[in-house]
Amino acid sequence: EKEGHDWFMRKEIFEQPRAVADSLLGRRTATGQLQLDEMRLSDQELRDIDKIIIIAAGTSFYAGMVAKYAIEHWTRIPVEVELSSEFRYRDPILDYSTLVVAISQSGETADTLQAIRHARTQRSKVLAICNTNGSTIPRESDAVIYTHAGPEIGVASTKGFLTQLVACYLLALYLAQVKGTRFGDEITEVVTQLEAIPAQIESVLDGADSVYALARSHASARSVLFLGRHAGYPVALEGALKLKEIAYLHAEGFAAGELKHGPIALIEPGIPVFCVVPPQGRDQLHDKMLSGIQEVRARGARTICLAEEGDERIEPYADHLIRLPRVPVLLQPLVAVVPLQLFACELASLLGHDVDQPRNLAKSVTVE
Ligand code: M6R
Repeated sequence: EKEGHDWFMRKEIFEQPRAVADSLLGRRTATGQLQLDEMRLSDQELRDIDKIIIIAAGTSFYAGMVAKYAIEHWTRIPVEVELSSEFRYRDPILDYSTLVVAISQSGETADTLQAIRHARTQRSKVLAICNTNGSTIPRESDAVIYTHAGPEIGVASTKGFLTQLVACYLLALYLAQVKGTRFGDEITEVVTQLEAIPAQIESVLDGADSVYALARSHASARSVLFLGRHAGYPVALEGALKLKEIAYLHAEGFAAGELKHGPIALIEPGIPVFCVVPPQGRDQLHDKMLSGIQEVRARGARTICLAEEGDERIEPYADHLIRLPRVPVLLQPLVAVVPLQLFACELASLLGHDVDQPRNLAKSVTVE
């Protein structure tokens, strides 16, 4: 059932083009309007929302971080993202005009479940983004967006994450449609860009062998760092989490702009640093990322840069370059995380670990 792959995780990484395509299926009406099957909240209820709080754990939390950028950009609704294990304990300010979005692949994560129960006692509406039909979190929510990853067996979430991102973009665009903060043709343009993503992920997967070679040359790494900015920041965090959980390797992700506030002291000669480079030419993001990369490289880091096709400015600063298809910055996580998944899977496998059942971890964490 691993279909020729050694690990479920690897199989699931390679299923991502299909999973993303399935998660986009049937979301457009004949007239081009977005529709979400189990939305169940009326347009009026959605128009009344003046704040969104996203709650999730682990990888799902990083999908939530990306969602914040997308929802705020397209709808101008303020979004907070919080770890579900922390949410209740700060006595969050909630009422009927707050939408709580719970993201959970399994739908059974206890921290997230308790958080939505708390939100509902405060009269907030809860929308679940979930991959598991009929699981507890969607059952206890007012509305659901199901992702269509199919069963995810590997403890390390991969296709679950990508399809959560798709659901988050769809939610953001749907809210923009209902609230009228974006025109129909802008929404259609983004949906069309999303529909191009499966083929673009396919092209990243075609480069798997060179990522595996990179993993082989890092088999004795003691620590790996990841840098990103904007939507690339959660990608950096996710790249680090994958290495921690399956390769048992010390790994940390940082917002590149935070380097100079402390983490740059960690840089020592030879340390591998993955750098998620934003697409060129937007809001100086790219320039700022380049200077961050120069800073770490000047201190001896070995930079592994993930940068879009045609980005020549990155070349002098990359000890190793992984090319990404050209996609808008908000959608870049969908392609940028894939080499990081492949790297972690291969490295963990080389180190002789059980990639699908890492020590001390369970697929769904049903205790708080
Ligand atoms: O099922 P959930 O999405 O609620 O799970 C949340 C986390 O436990 C999960 O993403 C965990 O971090 C994964 N093992 C990451 O690969």
